Amino acid sequence: MKREASSVPAHVAIIMDGNGRWAKRRALPRYLGHREGVKGLKRAVRYAANRGIGTLTVYAFSTENWNRPKEEVDFLLDLMYKAFVQEIEELKREGARVRMVGDRESLSEDIRAIWIKAEEVTADNRRLTLNVAFNYGGRAELTRAVRELAAQALRGEISPEEITQDHLARHLFTWPSPDPDLIIRTGGEKRLSNFLLWQAAYSELYVTDVLWPDFDEEEFEKAIQDYLKRERRFGQVSAKEQKE
Ligand code: IPE
Ligand code: IPE
Ligand code: MG
Repeated sequence: MKREASSVPAHVAIIMDGNGRWAKRRALPRYLGHREGVKGLKRAVRYAANRGIGTLTVYAFSTENWNRPKEEVDFLLDLMYKAFVQEIEELKREGARVRMVGDRESLSEDIRAIWIKAEEVTADNRRLTLNVAFNYGGRAELTRAVRELAAQALRGEISPEEITQDHLARHLFTWPSPDPDLIIRTGGEKRLSNFLLWQAAYSELYVTDVLWPDFDEEEFEKAIQDYLKRERRFGQVSAKEQKE
């Protein structure tokens, strides 16, 4: 098991928060913050690919975000839709393979179609896996996994005693991505907001007050440098003490 965070994280996950506050500070409507946030996402994808990060998972829309005012929800759905239509060529150039991680069933037909298209068109890219957590909630993800395992047990395909952590992980939206090494949250809130509850078990957390639209290459590098200074212990004693 990797102990020292001595190499660039293989998987970085980002809670892209603070678009609304970014707009508010400029006396602009919230939606303009979201639009600016898409530019930040493009920047982060390019940086991750160039920096040798294998997997980038971004929290784009949570299951709880449906509770926002309808105009904001509609704007966010439309923004994602357009961003992916416009950016597919760019993603191909970056060598990024897109995967939507989230509940597809409850999305409208056209939004579902755009994700399928984005996944198909970029399927052969290998430089970076871009997981987009869209209509994603950690509890919903775990509930779905448990339901699928229960159904398998009822069909007699697996016995409950045989179910391992690995079985459960295989039923998560993020499978087969590894667990994130580093989770970055912009906007300063020190919480997970239902993001990757299972997968975050041993992730290093990095919170910055920088608002998502202002999170540029320099800020991304700061997070990586902070990560590189950490000692990952995974419940064991410090490597230094073990040598003594
Ligand atoms: C994050 O920015 C984007 C989404 C949740 C879709 P917010 O819209 O939450 O911005 P703040 O937290 O209100 O500033
Ligand atoms: C988390 O941000 C969700 C996304 C970034 C998509 P929120 O703004 O929804 O989280 P809370 O409400 O501050 O916990
Ligand atoms: Mg927020």
